[in-house]
Amino acid sequence: MAKDTKLLMTFPVTATSHLLEEYRARGGYQVLHKVLTQMTRDAVAKEVLASGLQGRGGAAFAVGRKWAVINLDDGQPHYLCANADEGEPGTFKDRWLLENAPHRLIESMLIAAYALQVRNAFVYIRGEFEGPYQRLQGAVEEAYAAGLLGKNILGLGFDCDLVIYRGAGSYVCGEASGLITSIEGKRGYPRNRPPRLTVKGLFQRPTVINNVESLSNLVGILDMGAEAFRKVGTAKNPGTRLISISGHIAKPGVYEIEVGYPWKRLIYDDCGGMMDGASLKCVIPGGISTKVLTAAEIENLNLDNNEVEAAGSSLGSGGMVAIAEGTCMVRLLQVMLRFYHHESCGQCTPCREGMGWLHRIIDRIVAGQGQLEDLDMMVRISKLNDGNTICGMGDAAGYATVGILAKYRDEFEYWIENKRSKYEGNLECRRSS
Ligand SMILES: Cc1cc2nc3c(=O)[nH]c(=O)nc-3n(C[C@H](O)[C@H](O)[C@H](O)COP(=O)(O)O)c2cc1C
Ligand code: SF4
Repeated sequence: MAKDTKLLMTFPVTATSHLLEEYRARGGYQVLHKVLTQMTRDAVAKEVLASGLQGRGGAAFAVGRKWAVINLDDGQPHYLCANADEGEPGTFKDRWLLENAPHRLIESMLIAAYALQVRNAFVYIRGEFEGPYQRLQGAVEEAYAAGLLGKNILGLGFDCDLVIYRGAGSYVCGEASGLITSIEGKRGYPRNRPPRLTVKGLFQRPTVINNVESLSNLVGILDMGAEAFRKVGTAKNPGTRLISISGHIAKPGVYEIEVGYPWKRLIYDDCGGMMDGASLKCVIPGGISTKVLTAAEIENLNLDNNEVEAAGSSLGSGGMVAIAEGTCMVRLLQVMLRFYHHESCGQCTPCREGMGWLHRIIDRIVAGQGQLEDLDMMVRISKLNDGNTICGMGDAAGYATVGILAKYRDEFEYWIENKRSKYEGNLECRRSS
């Protein structure tokens, strides 16, 4: 964990941190008790709105503002879904929470369910997460047995059931509307909006979908109060963030940082710098769908959404990839485009055709049959997706492509002209492929 940081989410992990007994020994479920006995639904929602908590799933939308759309007097069932799909390459911080703090998610979801008048809540967990699923399932069973889920929770007359729904390994099922159609038992296609999911979501009912980390913040916010929460982080981006860092980094892992933490401090002090003494070439800040930033660009940047956005990228889902000098960006983009092509659900023409087209072009370049005109073509294809697709995947793949081409075009030109990588024979080049 990052030094001198006000930790809100993480704690020293033991072999039993995920169990109810240990969670309760640390004060677990006391905030839920306080909320159910001392606060109205409205007061909880107001506190979350006042906290300024932003979603941690990628889009950084304010949690309280999303909740505010739910009309509590509409007489309809409302649903709550925790998004535990975590399919964005480079991101593995929700997995940390699910494995080590599943009761924190359950307690937070119960607080949200109380505020939003939800009787049935869901966790949508990616199919490949066998270990996290086992931990979460165990925690749900413990919670039912202890009267913390189901009817008359804590003997206080509040009812809420929690169902874990396991995905089947599709990236687009992490997109909020794809997730809903998947829970409904259909093919997990994202769907057009409006209507917003908070108006017509799961089974056509008002539905709130929040990321696991976003939701897990609620226990802390309702415990310390919105005002104290806002003192952590920056004025526009309160709180801490879980950053999962991987790539050519000496100490990869999940780090909790206070928003506004110096980027270089995380990489060099906390993560021990780059592996084998290599130099940093660039960073993918928040999952591969965010634009690459060079080492020079992050030199004086802090890990704050606004600063990163001003630098032309985003902290996205907090999945940071540190890339060493000597890494071939052509091979890196090839891996990324293979992924996007494979994951496109095929509903939108620019995404379905565009991803295949981009993938074929980069394969052609790598095979030594590329032309310089291909590079402009790749930019044009990427931009065709911008705002023209049902979900954000088409845009994201385009941003990643345009971002890499804008900063490392010389490596692509070298490959096209010399029919080989600028870094051929380099260990780092092999590592990235
Ligand atoms: C292709 C695609 C995949 C996504 N995958 C995830 C995911 O795995 N987990 C997640 O929390 N959000 C994911 N999102 C974002 C969700 O659509 C949604 O914005 C988020 O779950 C809302 O939670 P938050 O407001 O708490 O961040 C994805 C979006 C897109 C376009
Ligand atoms: S943008 Fe791509 S992944 Fe998203 S709905 Fe359209 S085709 Fe499917």
